[in-house]
Parts: sequence; C-alpha cells; structure tokens
Amino acid sequence: MSKIVANNIYKIFGPDPLSIMPLLQEGIGKDEVLERTGHTVGLDNVSISIEEGEIFVVMGLSGSGKSTLIRHVNRLIDPTAGEIIVDSQNIIDLDKKNLINFRRDKMSMVFQKFGLLPHKNVIDNVAYGLEIQKKPKDERHSAAMKQIESVGLNGFEYMYPNQLSGGMQQRVGLARALTTNPDILLMDEAFSALDPLIRSDMQKQLLELQLKLKKTIMFITHDLDEALKLGDKIAILNGGRLVQVGKPEDIIINPADQYVSNFVQDVNRAKVLKVKSIMIDSKQGSEAPKVNMNDSIESCLPIILETRSKLNVVDDNDNIVGSISDMEVAKILKNN
Ligand SMILES: Nc1ncnc2c1ncn2[C@@H]1O[C@H](COP(=O)(O)OP(=O)(O)OP(=O)(O)O)[C@@H](O)[C@H]1O
Ligand SMILES: [Mg+2]
Repeated sequence: MSKIVANNIYKIFGPDPLSIMPLLQEGIGKDEVLERTGHTVGLDNVSISIEEGEIFVVMGLSGSGKSTLIRHVNRLIDPTAGEIIVDSQNIIDLDKKNLINFRRDKMSMVFQKFGLLPHKNVIDNVAYGLEIQKKPKDERHSAAMKQIESVGLNGFEYMYPNQLSGGMQQRVGLARALTTNPDILLMDEAFSALDPLIRSDMQKQLLELQLKLKKTIMFITHDLDEALKLGDKIAILNGGRLVQVGKPEDIIINPADQYVSNFVQDVNRAKVLKVKSIMIDSKQGSEAPKVNMNDSIESCLPIILETRSKLNVVDDNDNIVGSISDMEVAKILKNN
C-alpha cells in the first residue's frame, strides 16, 4: 500500500508563484523561468509514490529540489500546486492543530547537522519527542534507553552533544527519531556530514534496524553509492523535475537520460547488480551449479569463470527460478 503519495507537486519561490504555473505547463525549464521572471522553480510537476516499509531514496545534484520535496511531506513547505497524501489523507487540508499532531505522531526527521539540543544530555535529547508529547519522565527515559541501546550508545546517556563525535551525534539523532515510534522517517542528507567509514557503519546500522522496524523511510542523498546501498527505490531529480524513478538496477541498466547516465557511469555493475536482474527464464539440469538470485553478480563470477557452464539461479527456498551464463554476465559488464 502506498504510504506517501505526492501528486503533481509544483513549488515556485518568488513574489507571485501562481503566475509562473502557465510557463511550467508550457514546458519552460528552471533556468529560463529564473531569467525571464526572477522566480526559482523548486519542483516542477513531481509525482511519487512511496510504499509502506520501503526505503525511498531521492537523488540529484545540488539545487535539484531534494530538500524541497522532503519538506513537503511534513509540510514544512506548502506546495504552489498539487497534493501530498499520507495514509490516504491529503495533508494539505490539515489545519494548524491537526498538522502539529500529524507531525508529532506520524513522522520524525533526521537532519544532516544532527540538530541536537546542546544543553540537554543524550538521554534527554533522545527523549525529546516524548517530552513534547508530555509523557512522564520514567516512560520517556525507558523508551529513550531502548533506542540508545539500539544504536549502540549505552554508557553515553548522560554526556552532552559536544562531548560526542559526529558519528555518535548522528546516532543520537537517529535514536531520537525512533523514540516516538513514528511510521515514517524523513532523512535529509542524514549521513553526509560523516566521514566515510562512520558513514558506511551508519548505513549498515540503518539497514539492520530497518529489517526489524520496517519503517517507511524517505532518504535524501547526493551520493550514488549510498543510494544504491539503501534504496529499495531511487528517484532522480534534475532542475526540479523528476527524471526517473525505479529500482537501483533499473536506474543502472536503463538510465532515462544523459543526466542519469552521468550519475551511474562509474558504478561497478558487478557489485551492485543482483543475479536476478540478469537471469533468464530457462532452467538447467539439476546437476548445474547454483547461485542465489539475491547474490551480487560479482560474488558468482568465480564460479562462472571456473566452470564455464550455465548456472541455475535459486530463490531463498532453493527453488530453481532461472539461469545465467557467462554470456549474460559479459553483456552486462561490457556496458560498464
Ligand atoms: N526558501 C527558498 N527561497 C527561494 N528559493 C529556494 C528556497 N528554498 C529552496 N530554494 C531553491 O529551490 C531549489 C531547490 O533547492 P533545494 O534546497 O530543494 O535543493 P537540494 O536538491 O536539496 O540541494 P542540496 O543538495 O544543495 O541540498 C534551488 O534552486 C534553491 O535555490
Ligand atoms: Mg538539500
């Protein structure tokens, strides 16, 4: 079921946004609109649909509209036109009071700059959402401790943010976002300020947590490796327009235009693509070697090179679902 749907969102910044709509509908792009009218196009007719329980990554160059889009989902920004539907409700219709409740109960945001309160210690930062919900201290602290443990920060609960490294502060940010147990996590470049090893550790941790929690996560990044690692689906914005949305392998194998091609051209396809994305329907005899459909192509290269035969592809229950040969593998790697 779709958890979050954006239908035909336009966002124009400037003194008279509505007057710009006809230009966009004629197909005039962001640069020309700025030149002719002094208005900035944030989003130009963007429609997306995010399924419950998936990690939906939004990518694009700086200024392409990523933050503008995610901020529509909790209505930090109101659209010039279009609707945002969360759990079947058009949130543009919410009045002030219902909007506050909606933000408090349904979603949490994790920011690039951590956004911790410097005068509160870790446990009170993590418990902050529950403090706003006026929950008693015992309840706040026991819920906060659970999340502090889930992000591996036991023992640090009475320290202050400035006593922690960047990676630890971001763990506090993540724990804080999880403490109110929201259905939806909005993460805008949440790991971008971290150095590479810590960043990769956080990505792993998010995926591990997600296996248990099954939140609906909208994750913004300008880093393709991060997008490919985390995303069940990836949407790509260019100049406020949505140029492609699809599974990671769709984006890599069939980039919609030159802009997307430029993003994906240096990807190591063997590492990113899974066997299932290149397998063919025919099955081999039962004596053929087997590989799992969810393995990376890279991981089965040694078997293919060694046996030079076709391999059966099996699902997690060991049922044969197709096969691959050196031909398919060569074809996909040649385009790298
Ligand atoms: N409050 C605002 N007033 C005017 N223009 C804005 C405002 N917020 C965003 N914009 C413009 O909208 C466009 C999209 O900005 P946005 O912040 O969404 O980009 P982004 O993809 O998140 O970029 P980055 O990767 O740098 O964070 C940009 O051209 C920006 O200048
Ligand atoms: Mg941004």
